[in-house]
Amino acid sequence: MQAWSHACKKAKQGIGFVPTMGNLHDGHLALVDKAKVLADKVVVSIYVNPTQFGENEDFDKYPRTEQQDMERLEQKNVAVVFMPDTDEMYPPNKKIDFIPVPDFARELEGAARPEHFRGVATIVKKLFDAVLPEHAIFGEKDFQQCLVVKNMVLEYALDVEIHTAPIVRDADGLAKSSRNQYLTAEQRLQAPALYQSLLTARQQILEGKLDYSEIESQAIEFISKESFDVDYFTIRDATTLGQPGTHNRVILTAARLGIPRLLDNLRVD
Ligand code: PAJ
Repeated sequence: MQAWSHACKKAKQGIGFVPTMGNLHDGHLALVDKAKVLADKVVVSIYVNPTQFGENEDFDKYPRTEQQDMERLEQKNVAVVFMPDTDEMYPPNKKIDFIPVPDFARELEGAARPEHFRGVATIVKKLFDAVLPEHAIFGEKDFQQCLVVKNMVLEYALDVEIHTAPIVRDADGLAKSSRNQYLTAEQRLQAPALYQSLLTARQQILEGKLDYSEIESQAIEFISKESFDVDYFTIRDATTLGQPGTHNRVILTAARLGIPRLLDNLRVD
């Protein structure tokens, strides 16, 4: 991978990189489209990273659809699909030196999944070191992940420009996710309520309602009625994830519906 990337650099061709765990859908492919605009050559990685899954999470069951993914990427004309082995990413018999994560990574997703973001930061750093991209593209679907990656790039002065791309949704508003396939037919009909709750909260904020905690508790009540088990629904500052001010806000939510835990968010500008 590095030899190919060095050859690209020598030929003055810029590399745009889209890291994924595979099972590609239109959300991932939108990142590829963005990479194509930014760079001469696009590299997509497919690697289900064990260190970002908790003990009782779905690492073993995570959908692996390499053949189908390769076909979709071939249609997009990407230059390289990088699919490393775990022995390459985490040399055996060597203790893993994790990349430390900032305080805000311990909240929200980090509270629900304590070791998740150090696993994400560590693998993204390793992937950057292999692919040597000028540009890397991440989806706003994983809003907190985007901030963790940007923080790492600043902290270590990595020579990569981070770009984000908007959430791609199904026609009824449900954010596309590999985990949506775990929903039953009935749950799939209930699922768009999560996005509805974000739209309602945004509307209330834009109309000038100042009591954010009331907006949050009304939303939690609404989603719970739709059979969700709500983990969080919170209005935050979109840069720091701290307490929100009067601009640059984001509403973030995570809720379980049957088996999958669904994530969604909406910017309020
Ligand atoms: P994965 O869940 O496969 O997602 C890969 C990229 O696709 C991420 O940047 C994610 O935010 C983006 N994405 C997923 N669903 C999207 C949607 N509906 N709209 C827009 N973008 C979407 O995120 C990971 O993998 C991993 O944590 C990874 C960064 C690869 C590190 O292992």
